Amino acid sequence: MKTIKLDAIDSTNTYLRQLSTQENVDDFTIVIAASQTAGKGQMGTKWEAEKGKNLTFSVFKKISCLETDEGFYISMATSLAIYNALKHFHIPKLAIKWPNDILSENQKICGILIENVIQNSKMTAAIIGIGLNVNQTNFEVGLNASSLKKIIGTHFDLDEVLFQITEQLQKYSHLITERAFEELKTAYESLLFRKDKPSTFRNTNGELFMGFIQGIAEDGKLNVLLEDEIVVAFDLKEIKLMY
Ligand code: BTN
Repeated sequence: MKTIKLDAIDSTNTYLRQLSTQENVDDFTIVIAASQTAGKGQMGTKWEAEKGKNLTFSVFKKISCLETDEGFYISMATSLAIYNALKHFHIPKLAIKWPNDILSENQKICGILIENVIQNSKMTAAIIGIGLNVNQTNFEVGLNASSLKKIIGTHFDLDEVLFQITEQLQKYSHLITERAFEELKTAYESLLFRKDKPSTFRNTNGELFMGFIQGIAEDGKLNVLLEDEIVVAFDLKEIKLMY
């Protein structure tokens, strides 16, 4: 596994994408940076992390076995890999908040941004960007964020945590290659935050509504059971889980 360690970069995801347009990047190449000047989050947000205290890295995963509309399985495999790596460190009350935030004790400790590489309408690779809060202990009020150190109380070795995650990522990548989609989906759904619990959501008009998360639709959308027993599949732009 090739690892490129950088002191500072705009975004490890952007770096890997640019690299892949210039040369043949090996499967499982990792780019890790002590700090990012323009770290990217989901839906155009910024990912902020104090320099040298956290893991901000991207993995180049070659993909030849998925259709462009099957990308959510990469997301499932990545979430499961991180969940299991964190279990190894005894991080309590872990859950996966759809689509791929990792929570501990209801607070976000890890975010994932996956960008697919498409060539001639075919998916050829995925750039899996992972931001894990490790030794940072101060977070903006209202973010509902935490870190491994805040939760456990001790300092973590970044290389050790990175090693566990990449080990698990390799394991779960096999399930993608084998197209073991049911296995991935069942494991992912079993760890889903607030599954089958009455939850409040906000739609794009800012309106709040109640529903029960039921699971994941074939295309990765969130199936929510609404009033009158109607199940609606929402995508990330359409819905925000409030509590
Ligand atoms: C989220 O919004 O939850 C996703 C955050 C993903 C952040 C990681 S940090 C490493 C990689 N490079 C980026 O620019 N973003 C991802």
